[in-house]
Amino acid sequence: MDQDSIPPAKRRIFLLTLLGGVGAVLAAASGWPVWRFLSPRGDEGGAEKVQVARSMVEVGKAHFFSFRGQPAVVLQTSAGSFSAFGAVCTHLGCIVKWVPEKGEFLCPCHAGRFSTEGAVLGGPPPKPLESIPVAIEGDQLFVG
Ligand code: FES
Repeated sequence: MDQDSIPPAKRRIFLLTLLGGVGAVLAAASGWPVWRFLSPRGDEGGAEKVQVARSMVEVGKAHFFSFRGQPAVVLQTSAGSFSAFGAVCTHLGCIVKWVPEKGEFLCPCHAGRFSTEGAVLGGPPPKPLESIPVAIEGDQLFVG
């Protein structure tokens, strides 16, 4: 079978299919690292409760840690008052940041904002941050 026996329309479809496949592979190869960076890590198990020294969480400050394989945060909203949340944004799963100047959490992906109680203050997140219980025992916090 020589090249002239293949109709041009079939050659065109073959080339378009080939180019589409190569394009899809290249897009997946370049998009995968970005996806991994923006996605929260999978559940890797871990301890039921995480122990955090009270001294690690100053008043008005936040301390990020890993809880059941996911990023989490504990903050001291006022002297002796602690609260903890999952740090995974409820919109598309980016990791929120604590903004001490504003006293709120900010999601860097789409500017979702959360209060010190985890409630949505603005942006696209559909629901509050996941709340995690905190127990105080002496100079230690037990989160979980
Ligand atoms: S992922 Fe947080 S606002 Fe979109």
